[in-house]
Amino acid sequence: MNLSDLYRDIDQYAESLSSPEDKVLQEMRRYAWLKTVHPRMISGPLQGRFLEFISRMIQPENILEIGTFTGYSAICLAKGLRPGGKLITLEINDELRQPTLEFFRKAGLEKSIELQNGDALKILPELPCVFDLVFIDGEKEDYPEYYQLAMKKVKAGGYILADNVLWEGKVLDPDANADPATKAICRFNELVRNDSGCENVLLPIRDGLMLIRKI
Ligand SMILES: C[S@@+](CC[C@H](N)C(=O)[O-])C[C@H]1O[C@@H](n2cnc3c(N)ncnc32)[C@H](O)[C@@H]1O
Repeated sequence: MNLSDLYRDIDQYAESLSSPEDKVLQEMRRYAWLKTVHPRMISGPLQGRFLEFISRMIQPENILEIGTFTGYSAICLAKGLRPGGKLITLEINDELRQPTLEFFRKAGLEKSIELQNGDALKILPELPCVFDLVFIDGEKEDYPEYYQLAMKKVKAGGYILADNVLWEGKVLDPDANADPATKAICRFNELVRNDSGCENVLLPIRDGLMLIRKI
């Protein structure tokens, strides 16, 4: 068995022995595969459950997400909000706005999640609040900039999570994969590692998840 088949099988095994995906998330995933051009962008059951766990452990009052897509990770993260808490999710593309809001309503989270359409790079600096948890999952080429903006908006002792930091393994050989997204993710990973203002761990879950704690 080659390595990628082994990783796929381990992923399936881990998913099959984790708590099952709820009905709204199942429906959303089906919608993404039937109606959108890039359904693979969705976090999916294993990472989604992990995000939910992290959020439930932190019990954040305020969460910020960069990159909503259909709202899968937003729902997972919002499940861990403390009562009265709020998740703001930023999405540059407004084409999926109505179905996404409908999924938030079906999940019973329409009062907890605020979807703002626009460019996160412009919206983020203007947001008036600070966050206990930020999830970075927008344009890969902008990861270094998202990180610098997010660090200004996260509380001391707060957390930043970033998705796709292994970028299908391309980060292991950035010279052979010299596309802008791979380069930016490598820059982001090094930026975090060299930042004395945080602690971090890079987890090889799904496409790589960076966990960062602001000191
Ligand atoms: C990987 S998808 C997000 C997936 C979602 N977080 C999930 O796990 O289900 C990335 C999304 O970021 C959005 N995006 C890209 N650049 C953005 C920006 N500058 N501001 C806000 N959203 C952006 C894209 O339109 C896309 O829907």
